[in-house]
Amino acid sequence: MNFKIDPSHSGASVLRRDFPSDFRWGCSTSSYQIEGAAQEDGRGESIWDRFCSEPGRIRDGSSGAVACDHYHRWPEDLDMAKQLGVNAYRFSIAWPRLLPQGRGAVNEKGLDFYSRLVDGMLERGLQPWATLYHWDLPQALQEQGGWANRATVDAFLEYTELVTRRLGDRVKHWITHNEPYCTAFLGNFEGNHAPGLKDHKTALLVCHHLLLSHGRAVPLIKRLVPDANVGITLSLHPISPASDSVEDAAAAIRHDGLRNRWFLDPLHGRGYPEDVLALLGSDAPQLLSNDLREIATPTDFLGVNYYFPERIENAPGVAPIATRVVETHGVERTAFGWEVDPEGMVTLLTRIQRDYAPNCVYLTENGSTFEDELLPDGRVEDVQRRSYLQRHLAAAQRAMAAGVPLKGYFAWSLLDNFEWAEGYLRRFGLAYVDFETQQRTLKASGQWYAQFLQPGEADR
Ligand code: NOJ
Repeated sequence: MNFKIDPSHSGASVLRRDFPSDFRWGCSTSSYQIEGAAQEDGRGESIWDRFCSEPGRIRDGSSGAVACDHYHRWPEDLDMAKQLGVNAYRFSIAWPRLLPQGRGAVNEKGLDFYSRLVDGMLERGLQPWATLYHWDLPQALQEQGGWANRATVDAFLEYTELVTRRLGDRVKHWITHNEPYCTAFLGNFEGNHAPGLKDHKTALLVCHHLLLSHGRAVPLIKRLVPDANVGITLSLHPISPASDSVEDAAAAIRHDGLRNRWFLDPLHGRGYPEDVLALLGSDAPQLLSNDLREIATPTDFLGVNYYFPERIENAPGVAPIATRVVETHGVERTAFGWEVDPEGMVTLLTRIQRDYAPNCVYLTENGSTFEDELLPDGRVEDVQRRSYLQRHLAAAQRAMAAGVPLKGYFAWSLLDNFEWAEGYLRRFGLAYVDFETQQRTLKASGQWYAQFLQPGEADR
């Protein structure tokens, strides 16, 4: 490998005691990626069940039908989270488990499952962080246009009300949406996520409705759970031009406009960015008079998922905004090809702070995929993931030292799981999952995280 790691940034010396004592330490999962039991106990079909059933959609032809079988094995999984020593667990709720048709008839068994799961977290000292929408829309709603239909916003509020009424006595941390960019653009423009559409105008409308549903859900959750902390999780990237040319510099600004500012600006009361609106022309969503005000409803925190930086070049003719992500050579990458750039996390977080000044930020996801191997003696020596984790924690600390009000870090993910269009080909877990036997094995990275998290030890 011909990349350099700045030794002062190696992360190997990062210590828990250098973080504030009330810092949230967690790990994240999502319903469709781990639960399985897709047809059990009255769960309805989701857009991901449908998408996976269409030939050629998922690289290994798999689906989340069984996944990590977490629906049955959750006590063991929560035990493992406890063993890691995290004090928070981020999970998501499968809307079609609760409302199989998207709205209307309630599936009590689905609600019971999450109620038991939340009790299980609390019994183990894990603070529950619930994401309401991590991409598994009920298929019945997709039949009516999905998120492109404004009525889905109302359906989301019904679902939100149902969940918060049932779990709000115990769950005080709520994330409305996970990575609306992916739902909107991967699902409806690039077509490599459910529902697999390829229409830019639709993607922008979907995006608008996701943000609107977020903004409307915030006061609803607060009314039903007065002591709730509510936020949204965005996937954000530090973006820079691929060269010194004026064209690439302009392209990077455009790309940042659609990738980052398109979300951050309206959420912080600035409306959609004018420069991007001008580029989109008639593809831009039509707004009703209160929409922007509702989207900008104040929240308690901003959730940031950080994975990698993007270097951008000008690409005339490439839809939608004539930009292209360029692969940089000689840099460290994960098995996904994503550049490993802990310092990029500092750049991103300090930029968010400078431009938007949220009063509280959580890293709700950060993690890496590598070719893990379960050795005959039962170990998984994922030294690259361990180093990735160490260096990103060190970066989190640098961001805090630079004034970012970072209050917690959630590693993606507790378990290897169903990685969307990549099926089971990409492992992100701190624990290895043998998908034949469902056996879980804590990897070296997970063991390091557990050691790091142990309270009171002087030098690790
Ligand atoms: C972000 C998504 O929220 C999660 O579902 C996904 O598995 C990870 N990124 C890794 O790609």
